[in-house]
Amino acid sequence: MPMKNRKFSNLLVTGGAGFIGSNFIRHLFEKTDFGGRVVNYDALTYAGNPHSLDDVAARFGDRYVLVHADIRDRDAIRKAMRDFSIDAICHFAAESHVDRSIVSPGDFVETNIVGTFNLLQAAREAGDAFSRFHHVSTDEVFGSLGPDGFFSETTPYSPHSPYSASKASSDHLVRAFHDTYGLDTTISNCSNNYGPYQFPEKLIPLMILNAREGKPLPVYGAGLNVRDWLHVEDHCAAIWTVMTQAESGSTYCVGGRSELTNIDVVKRICALVDRFCGPLPGGAPRESLITHVADRLGHDLRYAIDCSKLERDFGWRQTHTADSGFEETVKWYLENTAWVDSVRSGEYRRWIETQYGNR
Ligand code: NAD
Ligand code: TYD
Repeated sequence: MPMKNRKFSNLLVTGGAGFIGSNFIRHLFEKTDFGGRVVNYDALTYAGNPHSLDDVAARFGDRYVLVHADIRDRDAIRKAMRDFSIDAICHFAAESHVDRSIVSPGDFVETNIVGTFNLLQAAREAGDAFSRFHHVSTDEVFGSLGPDGFFSETTPYSPHSPYSASKASSDHLVRAFHDTYGLDTTISNCSNNYGPYQFPEKLIPLMILNAREGKPLPVYGAGLNVRDWLHVEDHCAAIWTVMTQAESGSTYCVGGRSELTNIDVVKRICALVDRFCGPLPGGAPRESLITHVADRLGHDLRYAIDCSKLERDFGWRQTHTADSGFEETVKWYLENTAWVDSVRSGEYRRWIETQYGNR
């Protein structure tokens, strides 16, 4: 049976300056009874933006620390674990974009596989003081579905892209450390997230910003691939539920019960941007910007999650639908132009250099 309400004092969140990690840290401080300290361990790659947590740093600065360091650096991990008496890890840090993994697969092996291994070793070395390692993973490890069926916790692994293969490897390492060394671990495999603070290389923020600016909307192939869209806040609630309540060694699938084809997603975004910004100059609707481009190599056709185990064990439910979530997300990107400009301009990189030098 699931255990109840595990407590942590000093939680290392890797990749906390990225999309889901920053939402998770905000969720911890604002929506849970977590009373400890968060150490955000992040290399601040192109996808990591410390400004995404300016509000958290201002309000909870006594319980929030940013450590600018890399999970490929074993000594830096050990130092952070010691310096902050870390008793739990929630591991988000990863190279996360499938298209980049097709071009530069080596970075994915180094960060996603070797980096996860380094963290597991450090957790093991921490001994009895260490309480739990939660690994945030993806449904892409299961491969691709046909028109029917769902991924669940018992679906065999069958990754296709370098990204999903690297995440599958890291999942296997986490299970191996549980089974071999008795490390206390949990894993969640979730579907495609959307919401605020997502780097605008992923489908939804890219389409919102291009639509706003009247730029082409590049849809891969016919646009008939299906993804199961999960609002990031619902995902964060699921992660905290699993971290604090699930049995060691368990895995949970997290999905949005919100399957849409890519072309449907893009058309919904166009309609929302038209509604908030008016049509394009000349009066054309933004759908006219849709441009079908060459398909992604090895493009998985359909992902869909059966999350009934999470619902059954803990009563977790999605609180957002695609209708409400997309509308709120489009508004967020249209209103938060300073954040958008900073992640696209490289300004935040200069901020990093001011703060930390060129380490
Ligand atoms: P992201 O790309 O927005 O953020 C990744 C973060 O990790 C960044 O802050 C980056 O600076 C940091 N990072 C990268 N390499 C690092 C390294 N070597 N050392 C330390 N920090 C490093 O990613 P995201 O979308 O927030 O995804 C977070 C996690 O969730 C990933 O593990 C990803 O595989 C998983 N996931 C994401 C989705 C999704 O839809 N975004 C879906 C399923 C699973
Ligand atoms: P993405 O956001 O990259 O997530 P993932 O590949 O992890 O599912 O892509 C979501 C879907 O949208 C995927 O089927 C690829 C497609 N896509 C496009 O059609 N055009 C784009 O410009 C991007 C970035 C993605």
